[in-house]
Amino acid sequence: MQKVETKNSYDLYDSIDELPAEWRNLLLEARKATNKAYVPYSDFHVGAAVLLENGITVTGSNQENAAYPSGLCAERVAVFYAGAQYPGVKFKAIAVAAFAGADPTPLTVSPCGGCRQVMVEYEHLFGQDIKLIMQGNEGKIMVLNHVKTLLPFTFTSDQLLGN
Ligand code: THU
Repeated sequence: MQKVETKNSYDLYDSIDELPAEWRNLLLEARKATNKAYVPYSDFHVGAAVLLENGITVTGSNQENAAYPSGLCAERVAVFYAGAQYPGVKFKAIAVAAFAGADPTPLTVSPCGGCRQVMVEYEHLFGQDIKLIMQGNEGKIMVLNHVKTLLPFTFTSDQLLGN
């Protein structure tokens, strides 16, 4: 038996003002997208913004449905839209923001398991790390160097196709 340890790290910024301009703008786009969420059931407004390598930013917000599981998270709305509109264009970074109820104060948000799997698919497809920028605890901003950090032991096409 062998004990195997894995290590992860991320950058924590005290405020959005400390972020490099490109990521600050992306996080601001994600925050703006929270206002477009359709969330009559949860009142939890999530916004996501994907920065593409061609300089275009694509945003999405969570879209709910009376048949609850039919809704979709903001991250998947944004990432699938990017994939659908700009096939083959690499993703540089994804920012996620949220607020709950009537109080628009940005909240801690960390993508759900399904969204992690979807984001990792593109990281794997493009063979390039995607930075993930999210509002962390106590309003701090977390920046992960790649999405895989959120989903170790990822299931990818390599396993499916036996590569
Ligand atoms: N939600 C997202 O859009 N992204 C996340 O990362 C977590 C959850 C949405 C799904 C649902 O519309 C609402 O937030 C409450 O779970």
